[in-house]
Amino acid sequence: MAKYIVENSGPLYGEVEISGAKNAALPILAATVLTDGVCEINEVPRLKDIDVMCRILRSLGAKVEENWDEHTVTVDGSGINVSEVPYDLVKLMRASIFVMGPLLARLGKATIAQPGGCAIGNRPIDLHAKGLRTLGARVMISEGMVYAAADKLTGALVYLDFPSVGATENIMMAAAVAEGTTIIENAAEEPEIVDLASFLNRMGAKIKGAGTDTIRIEGVEKLHGARHAVIPDRIETGTFMVAAAITRGNVLIKNCLPDHVRPVIAKLIECGAVIQDEMEGMRVRGDINRLVATDIKTLPYPGFPTDMQAPFMALLTTVSGSSTVIETVFENRFMHAQELSKMGANIRVDGRVASIPGDKCPLEGAQVVSTDLRAGAALVLAGLVAKGTTEVSQIYHVERGYENFVEKMSKLGAKIRLVED
Ligand code: UD1
Repeated sequence: MAKYIVENSGPLYGEVEISGAKNAALPILAATVLTDGVCEINEVPRLKDIDVMCRILRSLGAKVEENWDEHTVTVDGSGINVSEVPYDLVKLMRASIFVMGPLLARLGKATIAQPGGCAIGNRPIDLHAKGLRTLGARVMISEGMVYAAADKLTGALVYLDFPSVGATENIMMAAAVAEGTTIIENAAEEPEIVDLASFLNRMGAKIKGAGTDTIRIEGVEKLHGARHAVIPDRIETGTFMVAAAITRGNVLIKNCLPDHVRPVIAKLIECGAVIQDEMEGMRVRGDINRLVATDIKTLPYPGFPTDMQAPFMALLTTVSGSSTVIETVFENRFMHAQELSKMGANIRVDGRVASIPGDKCPLEGAQVVSTDLRAGAALVLAGLVAKGTTEVSQIYHVERGYENFVEKMSKLGAKIRLVED
């Protein structure tokens, strides 16, 4: 099993180029199932999860060409005729569920193994199922399988009990070709939803209001092929922002959209980091002020992103003053706290609240486990400032979500290398 060896690296300096957003590219690739035309998707990050989605599309009968020099994936969906997603692929990635809505709309049926829970929580799909049922589908979940079928999808009012990102996306995709108008209330407002809606609109869909809590979709008869460039990854952006701050460095982050990381910017400024907009990107400086504590509470967008909670917690273990971190989106997203504690961090977890008292002890290198994608990134960040050597295992999680992580970090001066056990 591969692991990262991370050494105390001193301040990070230089420039980093952010890749396309994994969480936008995945549903956009799934949406190509909705058409028998050809779609060209640009700015796709080269990641394990994207590879799994391409394999899923192929297994359904699509012709998928990956051109990684250009970061472009081209999907010709004319041959799609399989409605069942193999379990082998679903077990690799929860986001496989994104093809449920499109398959239902295209072929009238979808069979997918139920994505399991994971380290950060139970992760049910009841809201996806509820939304698709409201559009007229029959959805049955039995013995670990999800069976969905519909003779016809009909527009309807869908109220989401929680603004689930994935459920909003699945329902939006199915509703794009349903008969009549669908309104999703209490919809997720994440930038990835807006990106998916703009791709669907390029395919001929009529979607308004994406990015607000009410999305209105006028169903159209047919969607056609389209070309689309994926937005920059706001979580990768945030991770490199925290990398600059935690190492007390000075990093220019290129190809990012500061508007998508407002809560991270606000919290870093509260900590004493300096953020400057420049022609070429956003500069983050942790080398000007002494960094101090702040509190964070994760919320659906535009609140503080749950995916940035672990990296930010790593930072908070290195500043003066006491902090509180509240996780409201996932029930069990504090696994990294235990790993950070192995490095000497003082973190007390009580349910969904983690307290980091003011008595900072310097972090020390240790053998730690990347329990999920963002936890792994957090441990690397901690390793950059810990005394000695940190070994981060189970790094396949990190590789699922960060393109060229080691290369990008190394270019900034991070002492990180990948070794095979
Ligand atoms: C997406 C992101 C993930 C991010 C999360 C929240 C992708 C591929 N992944 O995941 O990185 O951390 O948004 O910003 O885009 N829930 C239900 N029932 C459902 C669906 C969700 O109860 O049917 C709950 C979940 O258990 C969780 C909360 O809603 O507690 C948020 O989940 P959701 O917004 O759906 O996250 P994902 O789309 O899975």
